[in-house]
Amino acid sequence: MTPVGIEVNGRRVRARPGDTVALALLNAGVGFGGDLSGRGLFCGMGSCFECHAEVDGEAHVRTCMTTVREGMRVRTSTGEDGTG
Ligand code: FES
Repeated sequence: MTPVGIEVNGRRVRARPGDTVALALLNAGVGFGGDLSGRGLFCGMGSCFECHAEVDGEAHVRTCMTTVREGMRVRTSTGEDGTG
């Protein structure tokens, strides 16, 4: 199985094909929000929006409902402007 390469906050991360972005973030040790956000993977089924991030320029994408794609760019929230 060939890994899928995605970019997370400017860092190249490898994920397994078919994984969700949320799982890729967890496997890479990347948090979902800023240090004080308290956000994370909660429901895992698209209901709570706690896992949202910016994906390929689109804000507030539910990462638990989004499958990784080669070259995908993910930015987790900095908490400064509420995006991501
Ligand atoms: S963890 Fe609840 S919507 Fe993704």
